[in-house]
Amino acid sequence: MTRHLFVVDPLGPIDIGKDSSFALMWAAQLRGHEIHTCDTDGLSAVGVQGFARCRQTMVRKRQGDHHELGPVQSLPLGAFDVVWMRKDPPFDMQYIAATYVLDLAPATTRVWSRPAALRSWNEKTSLLQFGDLAPKTLLSRDIKQILAFAGDVGGSMVLKPLGYSGGNGIVAVHPGDLNARSLVEILTRQGKEFIVAQQYLPAVREGDKRVILVNGVARAGLLRIPPADDLRGNIHIGATTQIAPLTAAEQRICETIGPLLRAAGHLFVGIDLIGEKLTEINVTSPTGIHEIRDQGGPDLAEELLDAALSAPWPVN
Ligand SMILES: Nc1ncnc2c1ncn2[C@@H]1O[C@H](COP(=O)(O)OP(=O)(O)O)[C@@H](O)[C@H]1O
Ligand SMILES: [Mg+2]
Repeated sequence: MTRHLFVVDPLGPIDIGKDSSFALMWAAQLRGHEIHTCDTDGLSAVGVQGFARCRQTMVRKRQGDHHELGPVQSLPLGAFDVVWMRKDPPFDMQYIAATYVLDLAPATTRVWSRPAALRSWNEKTSLLQFGDLAPKTLLSRDIKQILAFAGDVGGSMVLKPLGYSGGNGIVAVHPGDLNARSLVEILTRQGKEFIVAQQYLPAVREGDKRVILVNGVARAGLLRIPPADDLRGNIHIGATTQIAPLTAAEQRICETIGPLLRAAGHLFVGIDLIGEKLTEINVTSPTGIHEIRDQGGPDLAEELLDAALSAPWPVN
């Protein structure tokens, strides 16, 4: 019997037609696998052992009545064949502490993504190591330096706090914007917190392409076109989606990053590309499985399950 633990936010409020963790659970259940779920508050460690206070979970394709939970059990991480760390951001000290528990899983338990890789690949900053594959990007908490950066990149820049997702806290600043200094002050909390400032790419109006990599290999692209009245191309903000093949340049980006992601122990990654430039590397809980399958793309839930059980392990 194959047993999975999903570390996720509570399942009650999810939209089962959009939630990628649900898609993975459903595919696993259809294979006859056993599913358990918990939030990070169920994780703990004593000495060398990590534990999950979790509940066996049955999923149903009935929105609102889509899951049934068994009694609470405290199980060692070694009781699971696969652990999926799919907790949504914020990526903060609480998230990081949860990965310390997952570090203690024995070698017989595959933890995706590898906890050390979740810690070292920050979604907003890990693109810095890829130089020209990304737009010009600054990581800083210096208010003056961030404001001056706009001048280095043609006047318009996008500001991003580090620990969030789904478009949270993302703003664009254009020349002459009298709110610029105030926005930088707010986002850096008066210079106390690092943020990313990035060259504004006008191609965002044509779409932000999400490419899903399974174990380091690009498997599908989904173009997300922002609503006319918003900068952001995130699905829950109201972006429209369409399956999109990769251009040669986009394919090359994936071939550069993919092997590094695989070697680090990242199984399910969604990179964001605007105008053939890398703007984000999503590793914590990427989405897109439903949209890609519903529009005639591959069934990534099946591919991810296969990979989760067969990819070389332990990594490193
Ligand atoms: N460099 C950029 N130029 C123009 N728009 C951007 C840029 N970076 C991000 N955006 C816009 O902001 C949205 C969210 O940014 P992103 O970095 O992907 O963070 P997240 O999706 O985690 O909130 C994107 O979908 C896109 O619409
Ligand atoms: Mg994004």
